[in-house]
Amino acid sequence: MDHSATTPVDPQVVDAMLPYFSEKFGNSSSLHSFGQEAAEALSMARQKVADSIGAQADEIIFTSGGTESDNLGIRGILHECTGQKAHIITSVIEHPAVLNTCIYLESIGHEVTYVPVDDEGIIDLAELEGSIKENTSLISVMHANNEIGTIQPIRGISKLAKDKGIYFHTDAVQSIGKIPVDVNDLGVDLLSVSSHKIHGPKGAGALYVREGTELNALMFGGGQERNLRPGTENIPGIIGLGEAMYLAAQRLDTDSKYMAGLRDSLIEKVFASIDDVRLNGHAVKRLPNNVNLSFRSVEGESMLMMLDLKGIAVSTGSACSSRSLKASRVLTSIGLSPDYIHGSLRISLGRENTMEEIDYMAACLQETISRLREMSAL
Ligand SMILES: Cc1ncc(COP(=O)(O)O)c(C=O)c1O
Repeated sequence: MDHSATTPVDPQVVDAMLPYFSEKFGNSSSLHSFGQEAAEALSMARQKVADSIGAQADEIIFTSGGTESDNLGIRGILHECTGQKAHIITSVIEHPAVLNTCIYLESIGHEVTYVPVDDEGIIDLAELEGSIKENTSLISVMHANNEIGTIQPIRGISKLAKDKGIYFHTDAVQSIGKIPVDVNDLGVDLLSVSSHKIHGPKGAGALYVREGTELNALMFGGGQERNLRPGTENIPGIIGLGEAMYLAAQRLDTDSKYMAGLRDSLIEKVFASIDDVRLNGHAVKRLPNNVNLSFRSVEGESMLMMLDLKGIAVSTGSACSSRSLKASRVLTSIGLSPDYIHGSLRISLGRENTMEEIDYMAACLQETISRLREMSAL
């Protein structure tokens, strides 16, 4: 139940990848038939990724994952402004791949506005509009949040950006395979994708770059990926990404309804059996697989360990911040009080979870929390 951290690779994805480790091992830049076989596979994977998000094949740049896509999308636009002080707008609840990129850009002289979110984790559109300046070059706001699953008003933001001629990037790492993601419907110029969150392999991802967007490379080399991401392509990983994106699009309706059913059942069972609990994020504008709960007077880490002993994997806050034991920035941003923040769990469901597992989880949670509360000095 920690699918927002990563997912198992789908057997169909593994089957698609396997030949590209051994008999079809060519380098797609080679002119002989081994190379051309790899080049053809690369172009088929590109088409699959493009089709799954309503893009054209030549608008897809393969990367090593969500982090690199976010870096390329944001820094690639800002490089244009070398020598000038550019302004970027983002939100306070972005993933570190975006936030730390923005902090770096501030350190080299650019200016960043971090727009707040309300107590349900939704960005304030009026505040975003009010923060647009003459020199705003880019807006980057995530499609769905990795901790509390809130879905942002991307169409509203893209309209604002378009009216002012500002590029708009969104991180769709958590939304793909859970809610519809179509680059034209969303109206974005740049969109980040990661394979391992959607039952594909780790170390593969893509950046959608709308035709006409002036993007600069962050690395220099042999000219692959239209010079925007040079280096010999990770063909097995890219094939896996293509297959995972294809499957995510094919299964979207079925999987999202199924996961929402599991999610709603878990929430209902938790609220029926445990006191002093709150659901973080938005009641409706949330990912179908996300349940973020805060239990008063319990430590998240203790819950995590006790659930782990029962064979259940969850996360406290986000997987990235959970090692640091710092209070979650996202939960702080929605105004949650410290006694609730410390007792927070992110439960992120997947298509292979079952209703029996939901029942087991609800029972384990009730037992774990009552034991911890009995022991707690709080
Ligand atoms: C919203 C979001 N963006 C970016 C990333 C980073 O993706 P990757 O692990 O592929 O680098 C993650 C991973 O947790 C994420 O949840």
